[in-house]
Amino acid sequence: MSTVIISGTQWGDEGKGKIVDYLASQANVVVRFQGGSNAGHTVTVNGEEYKLRLIPSGILCKDTLCVIANGVVFDPQVFLEEVETIKSRGIDTSNIRISNRAHVVMPWHKIFDELNEELRGDKKIGTTKRGIGPCYIDKADRIGIRVCDLIDPEEFAARCREVLTQKNFILRKVFNHAPISYEKVLNEYEIYAEKIAPYVCDTITLLNEEIDAGKKVLFEGAQATMLDIDYGTYPYVTASHPISSGVGVGTGVAPKKIDKVFGVVKAYCTRVGEGPFPTEQLNEIGDKLRTAGHEFGTVTGRPRRTGWLDACVVKYAGQLSGIDYMAVTRLDILDDFDEIKMCVAYEVDGKILNEIPASLKVLARVNPIYETFEGWKSDISQVKTYDELPDNAKKYLERMAEVTKIDLGIISVGPNRDQTIVVAENIFE
Ligand code: GDP
Ligand code: IMO
Ligand code: MG
Repeated sequence: MSTVIISGTQWGDEGKGKIVDYLASQANVVVRFQGGSNAGHTVTVNGEEYKLRLIPSGILCKDTLCVIANGVVFDPQVFLEEVETIKSRGIDTSNIRISNRAHVVMPWHKIFDELNEELRGDKKIGTTKRGIGPCYIDKADRIGIRVCDLIDPEEFAARCREVLTQKNFILRKVFNHAPISYEKVLNEYEIYAEKIAPYVCDTITLLNEEIDAGKKVLFEGAQATMLDIDYGTYPYVTASHPISSGVGVGTGVAPKKIDKVFGVVKAYCTRVGEGPFPTEQLNEIGDKLRTAGHEFGTVTGRPRRTGWLDACVVKYAGQLSGIDYMAVTRLDILDDFDEIKMCVAYEVDGKILNEIPASLKVLARVNPIYETFEGWKSDISQVKTYDELPDNAKKYLERMAEVTKIDLGIISVGPNRDQTIVVAENIFE
């Protein structure tokens, strides 16, 4: 048995895709367990960039089974576009499996995502507008449409009519919005159903059998801890559980079958969308981080908000997900900084906090306590071993491990596979 979860520890875009792709060469199966096409995972192989939103980042490793599990909200349109793009670049997609229990993102979910954001005005969340929240709302409201319903023409036609009647009523009465055509949706989704049917199966049985047969399984988180609907900066969060516990309900693999958890930590911090961000740098440091790191969203192209590493947040992620090892990414982006700061504690009203405040009012008032590190001022992008890293980089990393109480597992110094320093041994054992 050998199962590893990869989970984001900050506000997303930590480089989960790169770490998953790197480890996928040693795995048999890679599984997405939550979120949907709000994710944007960029993977670079031999200098070529691939942008993945729904398909697991294991797709770029030959023979790896790629599973979209039941916890994902599945947008067939995005999926089929992604399949075409990937195929056109010579990648085999026959190894993809989609859960028959995953909920389907329907056209009304995207419309409601837009309308709800408009309605929130200056309280908007800054969603990716991919219909993610509304799809999870319908799942909880018991009016969702699952993949097994989509590929059953009779069931789909009936379910779609029933749900659309309700949605069109709300669109007309509440938003004064034009109705959605039932026939149009039916025709469009019938084509999707036919195309996705060969990929659909019971992924619960598949995954449990693979694990029981001793296969190596990697669970690929999307989004991250601070965007978790229970543990993040609510309401400025996504609608799913990116923490490691999300794997249990999102795949049907029981917690006792999980062996290790990796937390991906960007060496500094970014956030897309609204909500508190204690270490944000709204100054020339933030601009420099954005420019050096090309910090613009993969899905929406929005400039990412930037700031120093918040070790309090990473420590919290460690507790919540039971993180064994950190995979620190983008350390090379800090190559040219004279000094680097790390937030090691939060202070409010003269008191050091022992937790991440639940109240956003309090979180907005925290005073981050920084430690300052001397920069290494050299190009680390070709460094292959931990020992070869400059002393100042090691000091920064070792303090990060000390404050967060999480061991260093992987250090990434560039987007390519060969820009990866492995510190933890026997990751899959
Ligand atoms: P994800 O959503 O967590 O998978 O992260 P994104 O793909 O949205 O953003 C991370 C970006 O950083 C991608 O463009 C990666 O190719 C890139 N990347 C990952 N690790 C490194 C690294 O160590 N150094 C540099 N320079 N880029 C990296
Ligand atoms: P990856 O997997 C960064 C953010 C949005 C918004 C909030 C809610 O690439 O790390 P949603 O559309 O999910 O309802 O938006 O969550 N968000 C992300 N931010 N990386 C992501 O994914 C994100 N997915 C959602 O910007 O603030
Ligand atoms: Mg991303």
